Amino acid sequence: MKIGIPKEILPGENRVALIPDSVKKLKEQGLEIVLESGAGAGSNHSDEDYAGCGAEIASSHQAVLGGADLIVKVMPPATGGDDGPDEVSQMKEGAALIGLLQPFNRRGMLEKLAARNLTAMSMEMVPRISRAQNMDVLSSMATVGGYKAVLMAANAFQRFFPMFMTAAGTIAPARVLILGAGVAGLQAIATAKRLGAVVEAFDTRPVVKGEVESLGAKFIALDASHEEAQDAGGYAKELSEAHHRKELELIASRMARTDIIITTAQIPGKKAPVLITEAMVKSLKPGSVILDMAVEGGGNCELTEYDTTVVKHGVTLIGKTNLPSLMPVHASQMYSRNILNLIDHLMGEDGLQFDMEDPITAGVVVTQGGSIVHPALRGGEG
Ligand code: NAI
Repeated sequence: MKIGIPKEILPGENRVALIPDSVKKLKEQGLEIVLESGAGAGSNHSDEDYAGCGAEIASSHQAVLGGADLIVKVMPPATGGDDGPDEVSQMKEGAALIGLLQPFNRRGMLEKLAARNLTAMSMEMVPRISRAQNMDVLSSMATVGGYKAVLMAANAFQRFFPMFMTAAGTIAPARVLILGAGVAGLQAIATAKRLGAVVEAFDTRPVVKGEVESLGAKFIALDASHEEAQDAGGYAKELSEAHHRKELELIASRMARTDIIITTAQIPGKKAPVLITEAMVKSLKPGSVILDMAVEGGGNCELTEYDTTVVKHGVTLIGKTNLPSLMPVHASQMYSRNILNLIDHLMGEDGLQFDMEDPITAGVVVTQGGSIVHPALRGGEG
């Protein structure tokens, strides 16, 4: 079986799906690897590094896409429209594909993948169960994103983070508020603490209080029960109108004492909840910073703009997407390890085996045998 690693074609995407160390491990299992020349450059891995681990280097994108039985990518393949030159039709019929395919937003791509009889696996769909933790790309990327978000916000903030007591006077520490304490939020808390800020965090799920406090931040609680805030699987639920209003009041009450806000609140499959209104932005001190990590899902702040930084009412609003690509070395390392674990999970005596009774396999496979097979995607629009 031959695994192909093409160069990512999306502008600004610096990650690579497999790093040389993972290539070495796959070679040890007797697999062949073909890399498009330069595919690792964005994450500081040269063709020589890959060749030294046993990969064949191909000079053309098409040779990699068309010659591989399994193509591993970061971003979804382009289909020949606004997204870039058609990658799907260059792939070998019946091959397999792994990537962050954004299946809910790319119906046309899914149909093309199915028409080409590709078995496509979408890493966003890895179920959040303990057996699949080592394949959980969303957690890996949220860790990178949460870290980078704080660094970007700190960079835009024109003041110190830590408290200083100097001969020239005392500098007060920055006050950071983190909204949503899932994977990205917890990493943002840890990073802001390491930089010396005073950190508060809010999440609708009271169960995260212990984790927030163990990182040295203060947990701001809403008076909601576990049942109101999360479902049986531990995922956040949408709040009732009344509870959402209370939440907004609680957040509004923190504005006057906050310098930086990182928002990460999301409910799987739903539009991001609006947690910061224009009135709240106005009530922040000039020079404050909001970084809205949920901008891709519609944003937690009413005023942030997709993939750009704007200043409104004296507040810097950062809506940067794809933060992990700004940390391509470690993001690629983590992504690659997650992919390697999925390949190991699927590998049988004669190549990849798709046991659709297995929750991990059934979770990730989105197209197979000429159809869109994932129950959450069958018959959908988008
Ligand atoms: P997660 O599901 O682990 O955490 C989300 C948290 O939000 C949960 O703890 C949930 O309880 C909380 N939440 C839900 N509704 C809330 C509300 N109304 N008020 C307060 N908290 C609420 O998600 P994860 O992996 O941490 O990702 C967070 C967000 O960051 C997502 O929107 C994700 O797409 C985004 N992200 C953005 C990146 C970027 O480059 N901009 C990179 C990585 C993630």
